Amino acid sequence: MKEKVKALTDQALREIGESKTQSALNDIRVRVLGKSGELTALLRNMKDLSPEERPEAGKIVNEAREKLEEAIAARLKTLDEETLNKRLKEERIDITIDEKTPQMGGYHPLTIVRNKIVDFFTSLGCIIADSPEIETDYYNFEALNIPADHPAREMQDTFFVTDNILLRSQTSAGQIRTMEKIKPPLKMLSPGRVFRADEVDATHSPVFHQIEGLVVDKGITLCDLKGTLDLFAKQFFGAQTKTRFRPSYFPFTEPSVEVDASCARCGGTGCNVCKGTGWIEILGAGMVNRNVLVNCGIDPDEYTGFAFGVGLDRITNLIYGISDLRTVFENDIRFLKQFN
Ligand code: DAH
Repeated sequence: MKEKVKALTDQALREIGESKTQSALNDIRVRVLGKSGELTALLRNMKDLSPEERPEAGKIVNEAREKLEEAIAARLKTLDEETLNKRLKEERIDITIDEKTPQMGGYHPLTIVRNKIVDFFTSLGCIIADSPEIETDYYNFEALNIPADHPAREMQDTFFVTDNILLRSQTSAGQIRTMEKIKPPLKMLSPGRVFRADEVDATHSPVFHQIEGLVVDKGITLCDLKGTLDLFAKQFFGAQTKTRFRPSYFPFTEPSVEVDASCARCGGTGCNVCKGTGWIEILGAGMVNRNVLVNCGIDPDEYTGFAFGVGLDRITNLIYGISDLRTVFENDIRFLKQFN
């Protein structure tokens, strides 16, 4: 018995040492130590031994098993290391080769400018309030103090789906939805697409983008509007930028203003960008009309607010010197690549 175990162990140890692959090693393990392996078979033969001989024989077989298991584990480790080293050598990647650099996408110019505007106003504490592109007459007009027979409706050539349902012609609809849900103090920004039945040309598109802003709290005055929008213009067009506020008219604000920024190109002396005036119109704004606050269940004697609406496409074109509005909608990759 002792000799048999020794012979088997020596033979197996030799084979383990010579094995070249993990799978060959595994074959040896199964053949010798497996359930119906050679060593296991010897253990089974113990029943032929006398009871006095059995413990000694059992010890010999177990020692042999341990020895072989250790040898297999050691050889496996060596083989694994060899495999790894071989792979590291063979699969070296030359990171200096750049011909396959993937083409990186970039942001669309409208997205770049929108993100900048959003960053500025959220830094002042505005929340972003989304609202639907398909609206009812009530939110797009009625609640904004534009009743059915109001001439201001003529200014916005609206896509009606039914008598009552339309594609929103202004993000101002978002003001109403927000004020219905959130009571003051309230600061919000609502960027989005708007739609008007305009023919496509260099300055018109049936789909364009606006960013609506609204602040409502106790004691908000025209000074807050001026300070905020002046800061915005300076952040956006440069610290030297001046602003001017011209009286205007919107049904949902009273008083209403049109805000101009001094032309960033010529600094106010007059050039082709500002058509010689030195000023560029950047947005419409005003103090929220009392009727609008009442429509949203807010007491206009307790709260006041200001609102503004920026035409995103116009501002983007100004910033990048794009003269034709259509270019930003065509998504020609050669045009868009310039903004990466
Ligand atoms: N909704 C206006 C438009 O489409 C823009 C606007 C002007 C929004 C004044 C406002 C505002 O909130 O106060 O022409």
